[in-house]
This record gives sequence, C-alpha cells and structure tokens, in this order.
Amino acid sequence: MAVKSAMEGKSGISAFQRIKLEGIVRRVLDDVKPTEDEMRRITAYSNELMGRLKSAAPKDVEIAFVGSAARGTQIKGSYDMDIFLLFPKGLKEREMENKGLAIAKSIVNRGRGETFIIKYAEHPYLKLIVDSGTGLTADIVPAFKIENAREIGTSVDRTQLHNKFISARLTESEKDNVRVLKAFLKAHNIYGANAKYEGFSGYACELMVYQFGSFINVLQEFSKLNLPLALDPLNRETYRPHHERTGILAKKFKSRFVLIDPTDENRNVTAATSIESIARLCITSRLMLKKPSIGFFYGPRHSDTYSSNRISKLRKELGIDLYLVRFAVPNISEDIIWQQLRRFSKRLSDMLEDNGFSTALSVDSVSKEGAMAAFFISRMKKHYDIIEGPSSFMHVASDRFLDSHGNAIGTFFKDDRLVFIEESRFSDPEEVLRHAIKNEKSLPSYLDRKKVKIYANEIPEELAKPLYDSFIRKTSI
Ligand code: CTP
Repeated sequence: MAVKSAMEGKSGISAFQRIKLEGIVRRVLDDVKPTEDEMRRITAYSNELMGRLKSAAPKDVEIAFVGSAARGTQIKGSYDMDIFLLFPKGLKEREMENKGLAIAKSIVNRGRGETFIIKYAEHPYLKLIVDSGTGLTADIVPAFKIENAREIGTSVDRTQLHNKFISARLTESEKDNVRVLKAFLKAHNIYGANAKYEGFSGYACELMVYQFGSFINVLQEFSKLNLPLALDPLNRETYRPHHERTGILAKKFKSRFVLIDPTDENRNVTAATSIESIARLCITSRLMLKKPSIGFFYGPRHSDTYSSNRISKLRKELGIDLYLVRFAVPNISEDIIWQQLRRFSKRLSDMLEDNGFSTALSVDSVSKEGAMAAFFISRMKKHYDIIEGPSSFMHVASDRFLDSHGNAIGTFFKDDRLVFIEESRFSDPEEVLRHAIKNEKSLPSYLDRKKVKIYANEIPEELAKPLYDSFIRKTSI
C-alpha cells in the first residue's frame, strides 16, 4: 500500500498509468491533429478569402479570422473556417447584418465552383462552400467590432474577444491537448453546446485545458468532481464546494457547474451544458483513469453493427413495449427543432407517468425522416386506477376528495384514508399519446397535429436506424 501511494505521488495516478495515458494521448493526437498539408490548405484559403473580403469591404470594416481553425485547436477533417466582418459600432444591427451579407455574397466566386447558403443561427451569416470535394467551408459572419464585454451588442460579438484571449495564452502543446479533449468528448457524444448534444463547446475545451494544463489533468479534475464548482480561467482559480465564492457564483449563474468567460464575467461558458453531460464526463474520466485504453476514444458504439431487427429483439428480450411519436419537421434551425422536441418529449413522458405508465427510457431523435420521441415502457394494460385520498380526519380535504370521485367503482379504507377504485381513463400508453397529440396545448409550434404518427412496437424500417443510433448514444457509457 505504501509503495502504491508513493508511486501515485501528488497527482493521484501512478507513474505507470501516466506513461500509459501519455502514450494514448500521442496516438490519438496522430489521428486527430490535421496534417501539415491540411493546415496549409486552410491557411491559404482563409488568406485568400480575407483578401477578397478586404477589397470588397469599406475601410472601416475589419476582417478577422477566428474560431478553432484560426487558433489551431481544430481537429482533423473539420475544414470549417470562421471569418468575421467587424463593423464599427453605431450602425443599426439590421443594417450591419445586411451590409455584411451583401459583402460576403459579392466575393463568392461561382466560376471556381463556390456556392453559398444564408444560415440563421441567432444572427444571419453566409456559409461559403468551396468547390465540392475539398470539404472546405467558411462561415462569414457580420458582427460589431468591440474591445471588451461591456460593448457587446449581439452574442456573436464575443467571438473576437475569445480569439484574443485564447490566441495569446494557449501553448502549442495545450492546443494539441484541446484537440484530444474534443476527440474524447466527441466519442462520448458530449462535444458541442448545441441543443442536440448539450455538451461542451470548443471554447469550453480551450478554457478547461488552459485552466488545468492538459487533457490528462482535465480528466483528473472531472474524475473527482464535486459540485458546486466554479472555474475562473482569468485568474486560473478553481472554486470548490466549500469556498465562499463557489456558492455566490453558483447562485449568480443558477448552475452547479460554472465556467466563467474570462472575457465577460457575466457569462457562464457552460450555461448550455446539461448536468447529464457533466455527469457523463465525470464517469468516463474515472473509467479512463482506472483502466486507460484507447478504446475510450473509439468506443464500442462505433463498431456496433446495426441491423433492422435490433430494436425489436431488444424490446422482446427486455419485455418492454415501444411507443414512438413521429412528426415531420420544417426547414428550420436544427437547434430549434431539438429544443422543442426535448420539451415536448418531457411533457409526453410526464403525461404517461401521471396516467400510471412510467417510462423505463425515453429517446429523442432528429433525422431526415423527421423528429421522433420514443418511449420504452414495461408491458402492461391497465383497467383501473387506485386513488388514495387524504386522511378522513382532514375534513375539508377529504370532503373535496369524496365530491370529486363520485364515479368510483369501488371504495375501501387504508388505515384512515379513503381509497377509490376507478376505471382507467386510458388503458394503454398509446391512448395517452393519442389524447396528448389531439388536446395538448404546448405542442411544438411547427407541429401539424394531423401529420403526427404514433407507432406501437412495430416501427417502420426507415425509423429503425435513427432510433437505434439515438438509443445507443443515450445508453452507452
Ligand atoms: N462560440 C461560443 N459559444 C458557443 C459556440 C461558439 O462562444 N456555444 C464562439 C467561440 O468563440 C468559438 C466561435 O464562436 O470559437 C466559433 O464557434 P464554432 O465554429 O461553433 O466552434 P469552434 O470553437 O471553432 O470549434 P470547432 O469548430 O473545432 O468545433
């Protein structure tokens, strides 16, 4: 025991384990770091686009190359460049956006095979698609030029501040560690702060590596994570549960995990990161440190071969029923579809629960086949409900209970409580779901009631694969 603790040293992992982990990090980095050639191509193309934008834009508009490609924290195969057109403050927001999009459109060179689409995140931007086959794309984003967070007009304005902070601080080795962390999070489906993953953004990865120094140190921190926790990268401080600042920050940001944006003390970088994603990183870090393996970057889900009867086999083995609600989605931002689907699916799950059908697992999915909310529920039919009233000695409440259950088919006492047996309003989950779709007020705004389909157990072939993928994503560690 004494030998083991001496070997473990201050860091909590043995020297042998550390060597093993460092070997894994090097191997992963070989896989995820863009090649010199790739980086040269990205730099050359971004320089060229910036040159074109400079010629097309008025003198007072600054052109800035930002995001992970500019900072050197992107991973292999991600050829997305972010180029910002920074307008002087003083213009109206709409005017700035229109001017910016017009400049961006004017530089698209169709003769060279370039095309574009206008995308709408929180603000509109132009996605330039370089000749197909290269995979290169550039997001050209109009924003206001600012010096600090007090001047922020729109949320995209922040990116230029992030760029300055990260570019001035991350060492080359830390940038590589960011790449490895991104790969690890991707393998566990917790990379990206969008509504689909509710995970960690690229900027959060950069800040966590800066704060803790390396990918392995980030794993160590998360493996022993205790909440509430607040990270303050500007001062490289970590506030743990008993520190007086922790409670103040947790309260200020209404979150048990806070990563303060060093460029804006009023922003929590992990505000969109779900507690489930944080828990996932905690568990996977612990597993990885306990038994380091490169498999954690290329987990079993990647080699898991899908076949169309997987879902029905699973359902039969577990003795559970599957209910699936599917609806068509319009051509709007995927983030909005996901946000509404999650809310709607939670509402359906609550309604099932309220009617006595508790879901063992619910799975959401968005694919080209539409959005779906699936519920795995223990096999059962229900004919009656048992409804327990308050104590008979609580006179007012028990009178009210008596009045409101006049149609009971049976009555008995359980100690001092009156209990009614009533015919079930819904005898199976499908009836609850049909009722919900017909009557529920809080349906997603894009949902056309008449086009919603409900399936019980037998699901169409084209839905089996997306459902299975989401199922694996949700259930694998
Ligand atoms: N950004 C942010 N918060 C988000 C998303 C984006 O602050 N939830 C800012 C960051 O400054 C980020 C920039 O917008 O660097 C560009 O975002 P994006 O292209 O989504 O990610 P990258 O950081 O470039 O990372 P990667 O492309 O490697 O995923």
